[in-house]
Amino acid sequence: MEEPVYVPLGERYDPGCAPEEAAERFHAMLAKRRSVRMFSDRAVSRETVEWLVRCAATAPSGANKQPWRFVAVGDPATKARIRAAAEEEERAFYARRASESWLEDLAPLGTDEVKAYLEVAPWLIVVFRMTATDDGGRTYYSDESVGIATGMFLAAAQAAGLATLTHTPSPMKFLAELLERPANERAYMLIPLGYPADDCVVPEHALDRRPLDDTLLFV
Ligand SMILES: Cc1cc2nc3c(=O)[nH]c(=O)nc-3n(C[C@H](O)[C@H](O)[C@H](O)COP(=O)(O)O)c2cc1C
Repeated sequence: MEEPVYVPLGERYDPGCAPEEAAERFHAMLAKRRSVRMFSDRAVSRETVEWLVRCAATAPSGANKQPWRFVAVGDPATKARIRAAAEEEERAFYARRASESWLEDLAPLGTDEVKAYLEVAPWLIVVFRMTATDDGGRTYYSDESVGIATGMFLAAAQAAGLATLTHTPSPMKFLAELLERPANERAYMLIPLGYPADDCVVPEHALDRRPLDDTLLFV
């Protein structure tokens, strides 16, 4: 058994104002995030991607196993192959696999099987969940851990002035095959990353947020 070693907490982040004001400012930034499905091909540097993934990797994780891997795809040929495979799954999803009620819920978003953005966005970030560590050890709460890291990635992209989409082609197995990932990695999310197209529109429906008094209960 490895004994714990303790170090001081260290310098804390100081927002320079009261927590109410700091949280309100953070909210103002997050509230402008929208799922974008119309991207510009404007380049985003590799260094930016590195910083965003560093942000994601600050996430807490079960027993600190950090059960995530981010694969950044910038190569046009690989993006084209991902688009072709995703569209094949999506065609089957919209034609057969999705239930009537699921299609009804998706209708106001206007999504369909055409995923042009998978080729237009400068980066496709494919998030993988590790079902075991690379050396065959256990991971814990990997779903929760990767979900938190992914959320932090999205928030970091927003803070960097970039747009994202949380895309989940169903099923996503083709991503591990296409990107030749090992057996301990399961595709978790496909995130196009870039700038929105100049003529980008988003569904009004998605602005509809449940009110705070329905989201938060003080007891
Ligand atoms: C887990 C998850 C899966 C999603 N999958 C898709 C998807 O496959 N395709 C898509 O266009 N949007 C997808 N979305 C985006 C949602 O439709 C979007 O977040 C929602 O409509 C709210 O809009 P907003 O992100 O602009 O606030 C997904 C979102 C989440 C959190």
